[in-house]
Amino acid sequence: MLSPGALGGLLLAVSIGSIWAASFDVMFEKFEQHNGTEMANIKLRVRKYNRTISVLAGNVDLKVVADNTLEVGIRCAYSSKGNSQFNEYPMKIARTKICDFVNNDWRDYYPYFENSSNLPKVGECPVEPKEFYFNDMVLDANMFPPYLPHGLWRLSISITSPGDDIPMMFYQVYFKVAAVGIF
Ligand SMILES: *[C@@H]1O[C@H](CO)[C@@H](O)[C@H](O)[C@H]1NC(C)=O
Ligand SMILES: *[C@@H]1O[C@H](CO)[C@@H](O)[C@H](O)[C@H]1NC(C)=O
Ligand SMILES: *[C@@H]1O[C@H](CO)[C@@H](O)[C@H](O)[C@H]1NC(C)=O
Repeated sequence: MLSPGALGGLLLAVSIGSIWAASFDVMFEKFEQHNGTEMANIKLRVRKYNRTISVLAGNVDLKVVADNTLEVGIRCAYSSKGNSQFNEYPMKIARTKICDFVNNDWRDYYPYFENSSNLPKVGECPVEPKEFYFNDMVLDANMFPPYLPHGLWRLSISITSPGDDIPMMFYQVYFKVAAVGIF
């Protein structure tokens, strides 16, 4: 039988769990590659999957070795009206050498990609040239902090050389954030 102490612990675990469950829905809107096709040709698009869900599908043809001679950084902005006026949001991935990222912080994100893509596993770096695929990936709200303002979100992903501020490759991923059940 559960002692009152054990039950108290269980309730605490349940309430902590519910704090961390996302209180919003997310959905892919658009993917854009601005440049860097000579290093990685990305043919990803967001397509309607069914009446309520859109997915990210396609492939990434990586043509160079990705290692610590490159850095990745991600900035976030959102538009509450869904127009072109974006506000920077203080959630980001600071510029990090690619293998340092793949060997560490990637463990927080990889679980949301592993079922629908063949992206490198945590620790699989340098990343050799290869064709990666995204097989109808559904964006998962649990990948994000437990609260995000509703609206259209834009993730700006830059690949740079250490010491150089001009991205060699620049991508933007757009997704919508709305109250649960709106989509
Ligand atoms: C759309 O697909 C998702 C993911 O498979 C599923 O959870 C959802 O129920 C589907 N919605 C409709 C309206 O079929
Ligand atoms: C990936 O698939 C496994 C096995 O089916 C499942 O347990 C896990 O929850 C899935 N991960 C995500 C993020 O959907
Ligand atoms: C790649 O595109 C971004 C965004 O338009 C731009 O800031 C950057 O200068 C471009 N990089 C190169 C090498 O042209």
